[in-house]
Amino acid sequence: MIRQIEFKKIGSGKPTLCLTFLLLLLSSGISYASDPGKGGRLYAMQCASCHGASGTSVMPGAPSFSRGERMMQPDAILLSSIQTGKNAMPAYRGILSDQDILDVIAYLRTLH
Ligand code: HEC
Repeated sequence: MIRQIEFKKIGSGKPTLCLTFLLLLLSSGISYASDPGKGGRLYAMQCASCHGASGTSVMPGAPSFSRGERMMQPDAILLSSIQTGKNAMPAYRGILSDQDILDVIAYLRTLH
């Protein structure tokens, strides 16, 4: 697919096709990165009942992400905590994919 586009670009040499190719490259790159917008929607559905809609905890013992609580850890550690759960916090392995959880973490990082 990309090969064909590249071939077309070289073949015609039109700058518009170059731009199309560049945009395709950029948009395909973005789909691999975390998406805090999608993360926010998942957060509202799965996490807000304890961690609060705006990240201020509504459950005793649950961290407030709006105050940056527990957010000093790297994404990989947060990912594994969310997958396995912790005490009163349920495990999300099998409910959310790795990418879903990374999207939620990207959203958590926007809260404070
Ligand atoms: C049933 C309530 C509940 C739900 C739902 C919930 N959590 Fe939690 N969460 C907790 C509690 C309680 C803790 C504190 C656990 C502890 O350290 O004892 C916690 C801790 C955490 C931590 C810190 C883990 C650490 O390493 O200290 C993260 C990150 C987190 N939750 C993210 C999420 C995300 C993301 C979701 C939604 C996918 C979610 N939580 C859903 C209750 C919940």
